[in-house]
Amino acid sequence: MSDQLQVSSHPLVKHKLTRLRDVDTDHRRFRELVRELALLMCYEATQDLHLRPKVVNTPMGEATGSEADEVIGLVPILRAGLGLVDGIQELLPSVQVWHIGLYRDEATLRPVQYYNKLPDAPTVQLCLVLDPMLATGGSSVATIDILKRWGAKRVKYVGVLAAPEGVAALSAAHPDVPIHVAELDERLNDIGFIVPGLGDAGDRMFGT
Ligand code: PRP
Repeated sequence: MSDQLQVSSHPLVKHKLTRLRDVDTDHRRFRELVRELALLMCYEATQDLHLRPKVVNTPMGEATGSEADEVIGLVPILRAGLGLVDGIQELLPSVQVWHIGLYRDEATLRPVQYYNKLPDAPTVQLCLVLDPMLATGGSSVATIDILKRWGAKRVKYVGVLAAPEGVAALSAAHPDVPIHVAELDERLNDIGFIVPGLGDAGDRMFGT
């Protein structure tokens, strides 16, 4: 599997993911778990965030520390990507959030775009594309195509579950984009769902 793929080995991620998959987990708990997983996955995906030195005064004197030297943009893919925004905003209150609306055509499994309000020029240095499910990869490839046309230079995918087919498609289309997920599952089934997966993330999140 591609070097781009970073599967979390953190015990809390494994624990929460197992709860998330469980068919008996209700919508309210499902949303909480997605929020918590987003926070943990964002911690992993920002390990190489660029820093600049920063001097502050402590009650005891001067300390030289660091502060973030990149403006981060969260790019949730509607709808299910919305569930990953809150947890990350809590960790990084100054992020920008740019929504991209795509749905997957049930017959062709190809992404269809319905929302994009990106401004003319990029306003962020690091884009985190948020979507819990990397299935065929069509939605994330299309989103990253949009971001690169916009002028985004540094892009990462942050999600929950990936299928090998999605990782292969995303790696082939965007070999420079790291893929951070909680788990790599076995495969896609014949209707494009990840197996064993967690079902339809958008439906479980929004109760539809
Ligand atoms: C699901 C999921 C991803 C996409 C993944 O969204 O949330 O966005 O499918 O599939 P892909 O990798 O094959 O493109 P869906 O189209 O069901 O829309 P929703 O989030 O509005 O439910």
